[in-house]
Amino acid sequence: MKFENTTILITGVAGFIGFYLAKQILESNDSTVSIIGVDNVNSYYESSLKENRISLLQKISLENENGQFTFVKCSIANKLEIDEIFVKYKPSIVVNLAAQAGVRYSISNPDAYIESNVVGFFNILEACRHSYDKGQKGVEHLVYASSSSVYGSNEKVPYSTEDKVDNPVSLYAATKKSNELFAHSYSKLYGIPSTGLRFFTVYGPMGRPDMAYFSFTNNIVKGKKIQLFNNGEMFRDFTYIDDIVAGIINVMKKSPEPTSDGVKYKVYNIGNNQPESLFNFVETLEKCLIAEGIISEPVEKEFLPMQPGDVYQTYADVDDLVRDFGFKPNTSLEEGLSRFVKWYKQYYLQ
Ligand SMILES: NC(=O)c1ccc[n+]([C@@H]2O[C@H](COP(=O)([O-])OP(=O)(O)OC[C@H]3O[C@@H](n4cnc5c(N)ncnc54)[C@H](O)[C@@H]3O)[C@@H](O)[C@H]2O)c1
Repeated sequence: MKFENTTILITGVAGFIGFYLAKQILESNDSTVSIIGVDNVNSYYESSLKENRISLLQKISLENENGQFTFVKCSIANKLEIDEIFVKYKPSIVVNLAAQAGVRYSISNPDAYIESNVVGFFNILEACRHSYDKGQKGVEHLVYASSSSVYGSNEKVPYSTEDKVDNPVSLYAATKKSNELFAHSYSKLYGIPSTGLRFFTVYGPMGRPDMAYFSFTNNIVKGKKIQLFNNGEMFRDFTYIDDIVAGIINVMKKSPEPTSDGVKYKVYNIGNNQPESLFNFVETLEKCLIAEGIISEPVEKEFLPMQPGDVYQTYADVDDLVRDFGFKPNTSLEEGLSRFVKWYKQYYLQ
């Protein structure tokens, strides 16, 4: 998909989703597209993975006929630096993916969530607001990451953006819901067109080592038994990274239509619309590891009770996405996990 003469700011660009989004845009556009990538490259998980992602983006942008990439190492919680970036580069599309992710980590490390997800997001909104100062064209569309975790223990499935989500079960979820509320007020008050995206368990090559599919793989490869919470009876709408990126790019290109009270504000789910049990997920992962010759047989499983902050299931209603963009994630779990395992083998085991 083409963006012409566009400057796009992507925060969290060294992260899993930010990296693939920037990569896809750089590879499918010429040098009239410029990506300004921001990330503080923190050590929540192995920072070498983040540094490798940035190096890959820099390499791609140096190749002929690709978009340009500029990396700025900074925290979105640093208001002064964020303001300077907006003044210097004047992005027309902003994609805010920088955040402290993870549900379980938020139980013991709440400060990190307030700093990046609340203060940081507020700084992005303020910078968008001031981008219109003195009659400048400013930001045409702010797209930001929310999360399926806002649905908490919602019992109705599939989860719809029409559902009431006022009962978060983790601070992480509360910060993501607050982002949607902040964005609504800024869209209403200052006319910033904004779209929030509730991602559902994103996985894939070069993904996040803190997520279950990755740590399961680490343990299975070492022959260690793996722990399945709620006895493996948990359901997740696992969504392959390429589908997430395609969804974000579709959304970036079209700022939301005004609501009945004139606010250019929208929230979408992006999920696979096909929940899988954790138990089936692990079985599929083991099959892929066996197919690649990494293990010869399934490992022992330890069945444990539910963990605080965890939810029983996630299941995305993606009707709005289909209606507005004709798009729906479609990568099967077998295909997605097989690609992940091939990458894992080449990155860690060869
Ligand atoms: N991966 C998923 O399953 C999933 C699901 C729902 C929502 N999300 C959301 O999508 C976004 C991207 O997630 P991801 O999986 O790529 O996570 P990630 O942790 O790989 O990427 C986030 C990036 O943001 C950076 N970052 C964190 N705080 C920052 C700060 N204050 N300033 C600048 N950079 C900062 C990190 O260094 C990291 O590189 C996040 O907002 C996350 O909450 C992800």
